[in-house]
Amino acid sequence: MATQPARNPFRPTFGVSPTILAGRDSLLHSFRLGLAEGPGSPFRALLISGSRGMGKTVLLNEFEDAAAGQGWITLRAYPDDSMVRTLVDSAIPEALQSLDGPQSKRMLSSVAIPGIATVTAIADPSKKDPIPTLVSRLRELATKLRNNGTGILITLDELQSADVSQLHILATAVQDLLRDDFDIALVAAGLPEGIDRLLQHEGTTFIRRAERITLTPVSITDSVQMFTDTTAEGGKQMDPEAAKIAAHISVGYPYLMQLTGSLAWAQSALDNTDTITTTQVNHVRDEVIRRMGMQVHEPSLHQVPDGELTILYAMAQLSEQGSAMQDPMVSTGDIAQLMNVKPNALSMQRKQLLTRGLVEVPKYGYLSFTLPYMREHLLNNPQHRPI
Ligand SMILES: Nc1ncnc2c1ncn2[C@@H]1O[C@H](COP(=O)(O)OP(=O)(O)O)[C@@H](O)[C@H]1O
Ligand SMILES: [Mg+2]
Repeated sequence: MATQPARNPFRPTFGVSPTILAGRDSLLHSFRLGLAEGPGSPFRALLISGSRGMGKTVLLNEFEDAAAGQGWITLRAYPDDSMVRTLVDSAIPEALQSLDGPQSKRMLSSVAIPGIATVTAIADPSKKDPIPTLVSRLRELATKLRNNGTGILITLDELQSADVSQLHILATAVQDLLRDDFDIALVAAGLPEGIDRLLQHEGTTFIRRAERITLTPVSITDSVQMFTDTTAEGGKQMDPEAAKIAAHISVGYPYLMQLTGSLAWAQSALDNTDTITTTQVNHVRDEVIRRMGMQVHEPSLHQVPDGELTILYAMAQLSEQGSAMQDPMVSTGDIAQLMNVKPNALSMQRKQLLTRGLVEVPKYGYLSFTLPYMREHLLNNPQHRPI
């Protein structure tokens, strides 16, 4: 029996770093090497792609921490239409100021003009260019950091929402500094389908050439280890067999790993046990699928028109119930047959579903769901079925 209630160490929340990070050691190691290696390293321009919940934001945060550990400064770029402005006007000036330390405040000069309120101008001695550009600002920061032997990491999350022209300015600036041998790295992360669309634009050549990291599911071994270690971190144990079941339920998908762990932990709290058992893990499986449906699938199906929904329901119906690790693929021919149409009548909707990232093409002529438990979600919610 547990003596005192322990806090749940699992974190089924988007953008929140897990207690134990599973399966990203080699990526982190490559990244650290890339920073230490020098401006010629291909790891200075990275493009992380992965579906929702695959751990992109968390990995970006880990990269930021790794960079900080090597004395680098991180600038976060936000994918809106004032991305460059925000960098130039606030993020970089703040970084420069932090380098100067708390003592050396920027000099303020006040001029009193009779009859008019006091005018305060900020005199920045390092500012030569009256209108600082991203390049000039980055150079200024990189030059200061060069003295310490460190550099600038720029991170950009939700790349798929970025403005192409803003991205072009950012990429050009980074390229400019790299050419002059400054220590700078750019890491962007986003949804695969959104990234592909973005990269079709001219002006994204640099990003297109970036080293592409496609986040894949965590291996069963790493996942089992994560369940064991996270539970221990929270002051309980997970039965080894229970950890295996949890790893299978969550199919290496990081959000599901946290969700499964969190619910199993809660079940053990209800049962007042300090070891999480196989029975408890099995008991929460349906709730895991339900929560995944509510949190991930339902929002992604909101905007999907009936024609596309019908295809999804047909896929769900046709794919046999099996292991969720490899969602079984369904041939487009079979879908068309079930829907009583010619296969080429589906091509527009099929393309839309691919663009939305809801389905993938595992091999020519076939479709499968991108995310685990979409099939279960659809079958469990027939009320949304258009026909
Ligand atoms: N490597 C990992 N190991 C364990 N849990 C992870 C890992 N990466 C992410 N998570 C967890 O998965 C969930 C989704 O992560 P997040 O980075 O927000 O995904 P994304 O940005 O790809 O949508 C969060 O609950 C997070 O704590
Ligand atoms: Mg994210």
